[in-house]
Amino acid sequence: MCEERNEELIFKDMLEEVVENFGEGSQEGVKFAIKKCQEDLGCVSISHQKQIAEAFELDEKIIKTIIKFMPSVKESKVEYEVICCTGARCAKNGSMEVLKAVKNIIGIDFNETTEDGKISLRSQNCFKKCKFGPNIMINGKFYHQMDKEKVQKVLEDIIK
Ligand code: FES
Repeated sequence: MCEERNEELIFKDMLEEVVENFGEGSQEGVKFAIKKCQEDLGCVSISHQKQIAEAFELDEKIIKTIIKFMPSVKESKVEYEVICCTGARCAKNGSMEVLKAVKNIIGIDFNETTEDGKISLRSQNCFKKCKFGPNIMINGKFYHQMDKEKVQKVLEDIIK
């Protein structure tokens, strides 16, 4: 966990520096940041892509398009990256039950990866999609209005 936090700090520092050097909106800067992220962290996850997009004030689609032309870049070290919203508004809509179900079904806690390296589980404070909550995200795709049953169905489909 500590290692992950360190990696995130290194990534944030690197990103700040690259934006400073290349300037906002620079696609060359984006390419540099993606390459560095891949080298340092072993992948450029959806969450890193979002951060790169925000830092350079570009649309996430542009980041995705650039990655498509960089074949050595992997989106994830794992096959499935599951991110659950732990924000207050999703909680009001029943996300606690959903979070419990997700952990039980996958069999791991937040910031863990299954033994076979297939699924990783993380949390995020808010996806800014509160009115559709409880929300979870799998490999960048949103699943809205989750409840115990719905999340079970979604996860069972990918775990099979
Ligand atoms: S609190 Fe869950 S998306 Fe905002």
